[in-house]
Amino acid sequence: MVEGYDRAFPFVPALVRSMEPRQHPAARVADIAPFHVMEVQTAARALEAAGRNVVHMEIGEPDFPTPGPVLDAARAALADGHIRYTSALGLPELRRAIARHYGDAFGIDVSPERIVVTAGSSAALLLVMALLLNRDEQVLLTDPGYPCNRHFVRVLEGAPLGVPVGPAENYQLSAESIARHWTGRTRAALIASPSNPTGTMVAHDEMARIARKVDDLGGRLVVDEIYLGLSYEGAPRSALALSDDLFVVSSFSKYFNMTGWRLGWIVAPERHVRDLEKLAQNLYISPATVSQHAALACFRADTLEILEERRQAFRARRDFLVPALRKLGFGIPVMPGGGFFVYADCSRFSRDSLAFGRDVLEATGVAITPGVDFGTHRAHEHVRFAYTVAMEKLEDGVARLGHYLPSLPRLP
Ligand SMILES: Cc1ncc(COP(=O)(O)O)c(C=O)c1O
Repeated sequence: MVEGYDRAFPFVPALVRSMEPRQHPAARVADIAPFHVMEVQTAARALEAAGRNVVHMEIGEPDFPTPGPVLDAARAALADGHIRYTSALGLPELRRAIARHYGDAFGIDVSPERIVVTAGSSAALLLVMALLLNRDEQVLLTDPGYPCNRHFVRVLEGAPLGVPVGPAENYQLSAESIARHWTGRTRAALIASPSNPTGTMVAHDEMARIARKVDDLGGRLVVDEIYLGLSYEGAPRSALALSDDLFVVSSFSKYFNMTGWRLGWIVAPERHVRDLEKLAQNLYISPATVSQHAALACFRADTLEILEERRQAFRARRDFLVPALRKLGFGIPVMPGGGFFVYADCSRFSRDSLAFGRDVLEATGVAITPGVDFGTHRAHEHVRFAYTVAMEKLEDGVARLGHYLPSLPRLP
């Protein structure tokens, strides 16, 4: 210990003492599960290196490149020397552009003051959870659901509470299930609409009931809308239309095809923005500057035209894939309304989704994600297909499965 350090930082000595004798990681690390999909990807790449042709239906990011106008804006930003930190809340002009986008796309009036630009929606979710949670406080989530959410809660010493959901619930939370699972320790409910892995959406009237219920219970509602731009059934509606007093998280990753640029945002109740700013300043200083300048081009008419074409392509892929998988024997009781995933019941072939995924990859060269990545509820009986590959490849993947699956014994 440096002399005088304990006087300058009185909270540190206990921390350092607690670390001195211990060589192993903190307990929270043991509760963080790895992404099995990464292991699928590694195995798939190994097959490719050995000369096999692989159809990648495991990958959770668009296959489309970042739109040209966005790339041009990034090049211009670099040429102009935009390489320093920005405000932790993001570039004011980007905050204004995002706020305007809610007006243009959804007819919702949002103040730029409520926009917090973040390092991907991953940072957005982490900031919101850091803002809301004390130790041991619970967050209601769906099981199956996006796995990082429960890990964010765990890292913050909160308690993720997975609510088992299935086709009867549209794989989503409802006002009724939230009320049923709420306890004295529950602080928030987190909903992704459309969801990963199921692609299902919460209907706007149900979202209104949920917002009222969470309010009545004295909690906070967080809605992850990162796939909302990729909706295929009518005009999408943002939860922001319902209330100014909820948190909406979104991203440039999926609809805008900018996964690697690491840029997302929060629309927060205005009174919480200062605290979110403090957290962002301390956790990562500011979101990536070049990415923010590039993202200013996302809302231009020429970019939106490109993105609309791509949305149509995703919808055509979904419309091909869902009936094709059903015909092969997978159970897909609810048509996914958005995103680019199909969560399929594989229990006619296997009740061990991890082994099933491995066998399918080995036998057919089709890579899929085991349900165990998304929770525990019937996870071994499900796999996730991503339609983030071109139609010809999807057709090829389905044809390969069509040759292989009939060779398996059908389970009762
Ligand atoms: C539902 C959901 N939320 C959040 C994220 C995080 O995305 P990003 O940090 O790239 O915005 C993902 C990524 O797959 C996701 O599926």
